[in-house]
Amino acid sequence: MGYKVVVAGATGNVGREMLNILAERQFPVDELVPLASRRSLGTEVSFGDQTLKTKDIDGFDFTGYDIALFAIGSDATKKYAPIAAKQGCIVIDNSSLYRYDPDVPLVVPEVNPEAVDGYAKKNIIANPNCSTAQMVVALKPLHDRAKIKRVVVSTYQSVSGSGKAAIDELWDQTKGMYVPGQEVEPKVYPKQIAFNVIPHIDVFLDDGSTKEEWKMVAETKKIVDPAIKLTATCVRVPVFVGHSEAINIEFEEFLDEDEARDILREAPGIMVVDKREDGGYVTPVECVGDFATFISRIRQDSTIENGLNLWCVSDNLRKGAALNAVQIAETLGNRVLKKG
Ligand SMILES: NC(=O)c1ccc[n+]([C@@H]2O[C@H](COP(=O)([O-])OP(=O)(O)OC[C@H]3O[C@@H](n4cnc5c(N)ncnc54)[C@H](OP(=O)(O)O)[C@@H]3O)[C@@H](O)[C@H]2O)c1
Repeated sequence: MGYKVVVAGATGNVGREMLNILAERQFPVDELVPLASRRSLGTEVSFGDQTLKTKDIDGFDFTGYDIALFAIGSDATKKYAPIAAKQGCIVIDNSSLYRYDPDVPLVVPEVNPEAVDGYAKKNIIANPNCSTAQMVVALKPLHDRAKIKRVVVSTYQSVSGSGKAAIDELWDQTKGMYVPGQEVEPKVYPKQIAFNVIPHIDVFLDDGSTKEEWKMVAETKKIVDPAIKLTATCVRVPVFVGHSEAINIEFEEFLDEDEARDILREAPGIMVVDKREDGGYVTPVECVGDFATFISRIRQDSTIENGLNLWCVSDNLRKGAALNAVQIAETLGNRVLKKG
């Protein structure tokens, strides 16, 4: 016997990837229901070789469903996740709404799978921010060996991290640059994204940082270790899919770059591509559609006592969202629900 699964937000970028990944990984599904807003009622979505019609989340009865994978944004999640949870369906949520709630586990299965066991307080498990998820997969095995003191990270985040409308904005603005009279004004982003970079993701906070940067700090502490100090600069770049990160790490103990490379080669969810030659590293276009978090450019930082630099790239719609959510469902299945 397998699981009765709901995918909420099935017409969105993350929801569609969830459907793909559930099928690709042969998650044991007995029944799958795709949900979205009323606007998408009847919209067809693919699940393996099946075509399913999307239902309206409003009024949907979650009773009898085991797991609901949510990717509908914080506002709609606030309305519908408590309903699903109350009706006995475990929600795995991609929005930021529950991530910092002490009664909700925040899980990256390669890092803290045991946290899943705390799901029952609210019947909700949170999926981290896309930029945090790929980073902590790399940090955890290094932290286990040499204890991380401080991380300085700069991100290069693709537009798919802002949803469907942002992908259209980059596409239309890029085309519009070449056709006089068809220029596209910024709508999703505060400035032009085509042929540009924008050092601003999510809202500004009182200390001058942005919410996206704060998320990386708070989520790393919750998932890996509250003692890790982290400072981030999050930047949107004109890439469709795939987030990149330049990560500088300071350890308590010395960690040689060769040993770090070996540790990362053995670590779950990581693929090391690190040749010191032209093209001997991974770029975002190469990671699209992949499950792995790719690590390149591993090298000592000799300006601090125990320092290391690395480059980290992953498909943000996969490890940053849909894949991690499906991995949480798998972990929940293996540790708790035990069906399939
Ligand atoms: N993209 C990423 O890299 C990423 C990473 C981590 C987390 N997330 C989170 O995942 C969520 C979805 O992101 P996305 O990129 O997939 O966005 P998206 O492509 O814009 O899709 C949004 C989805 O939510 C549905 N939706 C919106 N409002 C709704 C409502 N009131 N009731 C029911 N369904 C509603 C939409 O349905 P309709 O088609 O009917 O409008 C659509 O299926 C967000 O919370 C986002 O923060 C995204």
